[in-house]
Amino acid sequence: MSEALAFRDFVDGCLYDPRFGYYGAGVVRFGDEAHYSTFPQGMSPAFGWLVADSLAWLLDAPMRDGRIPPDAPLTLLEIGAGDGALARDTLDRLVSRAGDPRLGPLAERIRYVVGDRSPTLRERQRRALAPHIEAGRAEVIALDARAPRWEGPFYGAVVCNELLSNLACDKLILHRGGGVTRVGVTARPPMSADTLWRAVAAGEALALEETTVPLAPDPARDALLAALAPLIADAHALGHDPLPLYYNAGVPAFVDGLASILAGPDRFGLALLVDYGGTSRHVLDPRFSHLRVYGRVGAESPLETPGQLDITWDLDFTQLGLVAEERGLELLHLGHQSMLESVAADLWGPELRPLVVEGRVAEGAAPGEEAELEAERLVAEFREADGFRAVVLGPPGVEVPRVRFGESDPWRVDALVTIAPWADRRAMGEAVADLALPPPDEWLYPGCDLVANISAVEAYAERATILERLAPFLARPGEIARRG
Ligand SMILES: C[S@@+](CC[C@H](N)C(=O)[O-])C[C@H]1O[C@@H](n2cnc3c(N)ncnc32)[C@H](O)[C@@H]1O
Repeated sequence: MSEALAFRDFVDGCLYDPRFGYYGAGVVRFGDEAHYSTFPQGMSPAFGWLVADSLAWLLDAPMRDGRIPPDAPLTLLEIGAGDGALARDTLDRLVSRAGDPRLGPLAERIRYVVGDRSPTLRERQRRALAPHIEAGRAEVIALDARAPRWEGPFYGAVVCNELLSNLACDKLILHRGGGVTRVGVTARPPMSADTLWRAVAAGEALALEETTVPLAPDPARDALLAALAPLIADAHALGHDPLPLYYNAGVPAFVDGLASILAGPDRFGLALLVDYGGTSRHVLDPRFSHLRVYGRVGAESPLETPGQLDITWDLDFTQLGLVAEERGLELLHLGHQSMLESVAADLWGPELRPLVVEGRVAEGAAPGEEAELEAERLVAEFREADGFRAVVLGPPGVEVPRVRFGESDPWRVDALVTIAPWADRRAMGEAVADLALPPPDEWLYPGCDLVANISAVEAYAERATILERLAPFLARPGEIARRG
């Protein structure tokens, strides 16, 4: 019997099947000869310091005003913890600063719980956290981010780095006029799903290709596509037709669980999520590749060597915000990940800089100038990395301290701005000519997500000025389709 698997089920198996999945069976290599490294790993322990400091700022007001009662245990729940580096470094930082006026109140009451779907990675996380587990302040549990649950009271925060961009996505093709095709994966010659997975487990070479499967009912997907209709119409009007979209079906279930953990009787918390992606405007722009694979030099497609590759997708922060609002939470802040730095946790300040340099020596850089230069390069990469965003979610009305985190980026569909195809390119260039930016052709083109591109052109701190100067050249969602 021939069977096409939905693309999402195929990539989920490749990543998470406990027998052969890249994460599920622990194929992933962190550390020496790593397939890839995340910022928490590459900048260990400094990244954990930034997170500890940011959490102290975020939880300060609720701890003072009683929304987090003074006698309640304080929980930090990290979901999707990889090799446990962030958990270990955040806890080390908190514990070592028990006397600090800001970090101290957290340190005294903290319990750090790591939840992961991969049994193999849970073992690695337990090893990384061994001293903290022994001291009774950490634990590692089985938890699926597609349905996170918490028993009993919860006061504290949920933390995730590069989790949501790793949840298996559907691949959809959006046609002008509203038709939607759902992509599947099938083997040549055709075989049943069971036979296919057995071949993957045995490491046999397989010829796989994309095909289509029926569009299963999914109200959350349909609601998102309806909300994004003006952006989809603009993309079609720009000639991107048919239009591919990776739809993250795990986000609604994740946010459902998050809402049940962060709000309600005996509960109050915030979520700090760091990930890469963009607004829906960006994720719907086919001029960028929104799927990436890691693990083997030259690998480009998730259909190559199933189970041997990491597969990740750009996260749609607009989807996250819209779903959060539907589920009674709010996207309280969206900004570049560099918002995690502060005066107290400055990567190039006297405390953290030596640690970042030491990390480069541990990686093989010669002590002295070479390690300094490597460290400088890594810090610049952290501060300017395209698409890397930090998001705060929580119950409505909670204040995120602006003095610490800055202004939030626009993410709602009607607040998105994009370069209009009819804008005068020369006048646009002139409007920002004095700002020392790369040539306008590289980042000012019709239909792009301007804020995403501003982060790419390393001028993120000047985005308010750039948006103001370019206001006459911008189109609102749906306007390109209407005028085009
Ligand atoms: C890209 S790694 C990031 C690891 C770590 N947060 C970091 O930044 O170094 C993704 C992690 O999320 C975990 N993960 C993926 N899907 C998950 C799910 N549905 N529930 C819980 N953990 C999941 C993986 O097992 C892995 O530990």
